[in-house]
Amino acid sequence: MCGIVGYTGPRQASRILVEGLKRLEYRGYDSAGVAVQDHGALAVIKKKGKIAELRAAVPRDMPGTCGIGHTRWATHGGVTDANAHPHLDASGKVAIVHNGIIENYGALKEKLEKDGVRFSSETDSEVIAQLIARLYEGDLERAVKSALRHLKGTYGIAVIHADEPGRIVGARNGSPLVIGVGDGEMLLASDVTAMLAHTRQVVYLNDGEVVSMTPADFRVSDADDNPVDPKINEIAWQLDAIEKDGFSCYMEKEIFEQPESIARAFGGRLEPEYGTAKLGGLNLSRKELHAVERVRVIAAGTSWHAGLVGSWLLESVTRIPASAELASELRYRNPVVEANSLYIAASQSGETADTLYAMREIKRRGGTVLGICNVVGSTIARESDGGIYVHSGPEIAVASTKAFTSQLVAFYLLTLTLARMHDMSHHEGILFMEALKSVPEAVRKTLLLRDRIQTIAKKYARFRDFMFLGRGILHPIALEGALKLKEISYIHAEGYASGEIKHGPIALVSPEAPSVFLVPGDQLREKTISNMKEIKARGGPIIAVADEGDAEVVSIADDCIPVPKVDPRFQPFTMVVPLQLFAYFTALELGRDVDQPRNLAKSVTVE
Ligand code: M6R
Repeated sequence: MCGIVGYTGPRQASRILVEGLKRLEYRGYDSAGVAVQDHGALAVIKKKGKIAELRAAVPRDMPGTCGIGHTRWATHGGVTDANAHPHLDASGKVAIVHNGIIENYGALKEKLEKDGVRFSSETDSEVIAQLIARLYEGDLERAVKSALRHLKGTYGIAVIHADEPGRIVGARNGSPLVIGVGDGEMLLASDVTAMLAHTRQVVYLNDGEVVSMTPADFRVSDADDNPVDPKINEIAWQLDAIEKDGFSCYMEKEIFEQPESIARAFGGRLEPEYGTAKLGGLNLSRKELHAVERVRVIAAGTSWHAGLVGSWLLESVTRIPASAELASELRYRNPVVEANSLYIAASQSGETADTLYAMREIKRRGGTVLGICNVVGSTIARESDGGIYVHSGPEIAVASTKAFTSQLVAFYLLTLTLARMHDMSHHEGILFMEALKSVPEAVRKTLLLRDRIQTIAKKYARFRDFMFLGRGILHPIALEGALKLKEISYIHAEGYASGEIKHGPIALVSPEAPSVFLVPGDQLREKTISNMKEIKARGGPIIAVADEGDAEVVSIADDCIPVPKVDPRFQPFTMVVPLQLFAYFTALELGRDVDQPRNLAKSVTVE
């Protein structure tokens, strides 16, 4: 949520900041701004709206080689120019950008106002600038550290002072910050995508750490001023991975990348000789894995749906009880953390606050937590006991697509690993592996259905209510289809287990409320067909996603999307892709902003 970028070096800062913010726009996009040092003063430009508005407002020749920028997702205070970051203190000497929430800002603000400080925004963030300015005695790093002692809440901040040319101070507590180490220049950002064009050498800041940087050097220390030895990491992502690459938007690109991203997720991780998977990052011995008696996934949104598929698969294949829970719920229900339970925090970004805090709660109680993350070096990835990177490459569109299918792969690999330690024979392991290896091609064929799906999306785009229905391992896919549609088209959509509709949702059925059925290829097919007939009998339009060649489904449904037939356990892959395309084409038809839907942000770093 919100994006931060900072630059200090020999080049024009404003240009690098605005370009960096463009890369970060997916993290929040209601307003943006930059502050640049210029001859002992700070120049601030901030604008309500997208980065394009800011870009138009920033003069091409804006002087200054050190500055900070921000793209906002509003929490405290409406979407206005005044509430956009950077925020200045009353004297105009200190500028800050902030991600996170300052919980005690009300009390701090009241106290500062009593002392005569005048505020110019409604945000919680401005107190940080005012506080730093009050505590400043010629050393910005020291003033920042003193100010941090007064703050309660979460923050990733970048700060500059008019009297300290070329210096940026950053601090982190619960909101990511990364240092980019360049050649004679330094960057600071909430996300590596903002700095990929300039450097691949990065240092991830940990909670409680502060960095002070100049073009030539940087120093990391903790709040008590103890120096921290920084570990420099090399980013593997290529710059073209964050370009649209000829596609109209990132979501379209990411949907169509899936044959490759899925293959990447299992590449090098299958061991045909032993009919199992090789997951090097788990940091658990075979003995420890063998002792696992229960698997519990914690996640949010689309990652939770991946966890639901994963836990369904794990339990049915390995016979180890497994479940998936919303991280936002788990943290506050005083969970029992059992010995021999394996927890899995699934998160594309690895920064989702709900998932991160739930994971920390479990770890505090002695639980073992693995991360299934996409972003290398993300907080969840670093704080978990081990894990599986899904390697889907940068996912920029707010609606998650390729990360979801890659997370599925991680769960399938874990399932194979655990199953082979228990009842699964070598031969069954090989069959499972072969089925997984056939997924990229099945997904590629599914993507060829784009024109048919676009036609169906056009036909139904003006309907206002949808139900998505699936059973068994496809129930989470129904939830995911509904989430995708509502998220980017703003159409009301509910996902249900198809066996549930007679317990209430069937009351919604009418000619104006289409149902999207996911027809399983296993013993639940007949039951699903009965459910379809129940809807049909009540005049509800039906769109079915079913194995190709299923004539009975074609005869019942108003519209059918025939997908390649795969082992029913692998249907989540072939069934989710048409739903992603359906949501995408519907949003396109309605003229929505597909990549940056209203009110949302890619990485949800506040609770
Ligand atoms: O980064 P995470 O996977 O932890 O994010 C969790 C959710 O915020 C995310 O999946 C969200 O639901 C997506 N916008 C769904 O498309």
